[in-house]
Amino acid sequence: MPFIKQTTSASPGTVFLVGAGPGDPDLLTVKALRLIENADILVYDRLVSEEIVGLTNPQAEKIFVGKKDGYHSLPQDQINQLLVDYAAKGKDVVRLKGGDPYIFGRGGEEAEQLSEAGISFQVVPGITAAAGCSAATGIPLTHRDHAQSVKFITGHLKKGDLKHDWHNLAKSGQTLVFYMGLNSLGTISSKLIEHGCPASMPVALVQDGTTAKQRLLTGTLENIEQRCLQAGFSSPSLIIIGTVVSMAQTLGSWPDEALQLSPDLSKELTKELTKELSQSLSQKHSKEFQQVLQAS
Ligand SMILES: C[S@@+](CC[C@H](N)C(=O)[O-])C[C@H]1O[C@@H](n2cnc3c(N)ncnc32)[C@H](O)[C@@H]1O
Repeated sequence: MPFIKQTTSASPGTVFLVGAGPGDPDLLTVKALRLIENADILVYDRLVSEEIVGLTNPQAEKIFVGKKDGYHSLPQDQINQLLVDYAAKGKDVVRLKGGDPYIFGRGGEEAEQLSEAGISFQVVPGITAAAGCSAATGIPLTHRDHAQSVKFITGHLKKGDLKHDWHNLAKSGQTLVFYMGLNSLGTISSKLIEHGCPASMPVALVQDGTTAKQRLLTGTLENIEQRCLQAGFSSPSLIIIGTVVSMAQTLGSWPDEALQLSPDLSKELTKELTKELSQSLSQKHSKEFQQVLQAS
């Protein structure tokens, strides 16, 4: 298995684009842990927890590039150049990113630059925030009674707007997970309602998922923005929308006040969903459902 060289040489080094997972160090992959422990140079983002950065050896050079909700304190092109420059000098670099490098992590952009510069690189996947927060809150992202598909969506506004296919996102039988969406929570909720999603659709906000600071807030599309303002949620937070959210009541270990869905809501929504799903299948309307059922 290829691994970090311990010496520098005239030949270019390798850049390892490594996913650090959602925060809990126990959720690092074995490969990520080995690379972090052996790194000579570690370039890391804000979402990488202190505990994980602390796993490097004391001699390692640690370079913080401070990514926050899609923005870097060091611009992306300078980060790319930094990686290329170190590798060109024969250094192996561990580029550590929160979650998974290829999910809203700009890992693709960094890999493209490395490839163009002729630098060898490897991508080490990490547990993405959606998977970490799902497990940590008792909200399965798919469930045969609730959601036959799950979508990971950016909530980051571009030029003040979110250009999504709201008509499709408002359909039942799926779970929506918005990354970087806290500031556009109101827009997301109203767009979904406008396009036909029930205002009573359950929503969960998970802040600092999988860490000791984790917080969970539930509500509905209609009231989640207000609840979020009251509770004072901050980044990094994930928005999970769908009837699966009601499962946190049974699968999560949370105080009742964190879960403010009515106890009957889960049953009602499941009934509605099952009816709609069987109609759409019998009419052979939904290619998407057919494919998903075949795959399951
Ligand atoms: C730039 S994206 C990076 C996503 C990352 N590559 C991944 O796969 O999880 C940052 C967003 O991920 C979400 N996020 C990352 N870690 C999180 C955590 N521990 N708890 C909740 N949300 C998290 C938040 O929505 C945050 O705004």
